[in-house]
Amino acid sequence: MAKLWGGRFESESSKLLEDFNASIGFDWKMWREDIQGSRAHAKMLKNIGILTQGELDSIMGGLDTIATMIESGEFVFSNSDEDIHMAIESKLTQLIGESGKKLHTARSRNDQVALDFRLFSLRANKSLRDSILALMQTLLTIAKDHTHTIMPGMTHLQHAQPVSLAFHIVAWCCSLQRDVQRFQDSFMRNNFSPLGSGALAGTPYGNDREFVAKELGFSAPTLNAMDSVSDRDFALDLLYDIAMLMMHISRISEELVLWSSVEFGFITLSDAYSTGSSIMPQKKNPDVPELLRGKSGRSFGNLMALLSVMKSLPLAYNKDTQEDKENVFDSVHTAKISLQILKECLATTTFHTQNMRKMATKGHLSATDLADFLVRECGIPFRDSHHITGKVVAYAEKKGVDISTLTQQELQSIDSRIKDGASAVLDIESSMEARNSLGGTASAQTLAQIASLEAFITQAKSAME
Ligand code: ARG
Repeated sequence: MAKLWGGRFESESSKLLEDFNASIGFDWKMWREDIQGSRAHAKMLKNIGILTQGELDSIMGGLDTIATMIESGEFVFSNSDEDIHMAIESKLTQLIGESGKKLHTARSRNDQVALDFRLFSLRANKSLRDSILALMQTLLTIAKDHTHTIMPGMTHLQHAQPVSLAFHIVAWCCSLQRDVQRFQDSFMRNNFSPLGSGALAGTPYGNDREFVAKELGFSAPTLNAMDSVSDRDFALDLLYDIAMLMMHISRISEELVLWSSVEFGFITLSDAYSTGSSIMPQKKNPDVPELLRGKSGRSFGNLMALLSVMKSLPLAYNKDTQEDKENVFDSVHTAKISLQILKECLATTTFHTQNMRKMATKGHLSATDLADFLVRECGIPFRDSHHITGKVVAYAEKKGVDISTLTQQELQSIDSRIKDGASAVLDIESSMEARNSLGGTASAQTLAQIASLEAFITQAKSAME
């Protein structure tokens, strides 16, 4: 079959080249964006007098038919069409004849692919933001029930100070909030229309680029045609945003894996989101968080892959950039499904609050509170109070109990400078509530953090409408 670009060629291209060169096998995914771009372009061509109203009507009708055909699966994509842009254009001419051939006036595949891919990336950006916000909402709903659920807060994966489960979940949400903000930032930075840049230098037709930009929902046209056809920063921004998001998802997942172990016993994942072992009948495995942790790897790889494709490209368009799409499609799909399954998995998880509390009374988590009490209430310098508290810990260790169980008499028998009221500060609940500084784990502070995140979600959602 003759190529749309075949005028100067005397013989046909080899089948091997055709398959190697084609991107239709993956870029068909941008058919919506391609048609959307063509509609706006056609309207503009009519406005500047290149198409008659009749030609515009027939192009619009043809594009509608093509959209219906693709949606129903009736449209057959073939490598001989090379890419989605030519597949749609040649089908249009097949359907409506001569006026179809006019659509590509004042446009090149270089600005066309830049437009389609940008539209696709911006759409994915919005949809991922929406999914992150939904995950945050689910987390906050769980958090609200657990502002008094005490668990060991850890550093070096060792028991450190008591915190609430809500506080821990809010910490996860803060990283997700930054993800949403990162997506917001890159959306604003890239929301410009490259269409009308032509092959690389602009067009001689007087394209109304402002009209096209507005028609497609961009904030404005891009500034420089040469940059516009060669820039893929918008795709890299998206890949980076996703890599960061997946890194956060991986960290949350790692904790879910740990928490579901017998050793922690903090959570049980629902049957719907756990798997069994083919040999050990008793097993229930946390495959979901493990896979999420693993999937972060491919999202980092996709970012590296596109950075490597782009790094030495001279201006302007080079065919190398055709290698930009599969990484992005894969990362978008991975992030989308990861957010969805993590949300469902968390919403159906059982939290073993008694176990959490029990574990918080192992490891003398309120030792710092006693040291602080000795400074505040007994006028003892911190170095000495640290030492006295060390003796109290040693006593408890010898007795085989946690310091939170020691009585006032026992404390005074260890060191007579320990005043009344000391045993009360050793209680893990009061230890948690004592950390009432801004951003701390005290329930009042955690509730304020939840309120702030909820306000953020409302505002982030309305910004997307
Ligand atoms: N399939 C191509 C891509 O994805 C479209 C642009 C081709 N332009 C060209 N001059 N060969 O990059």
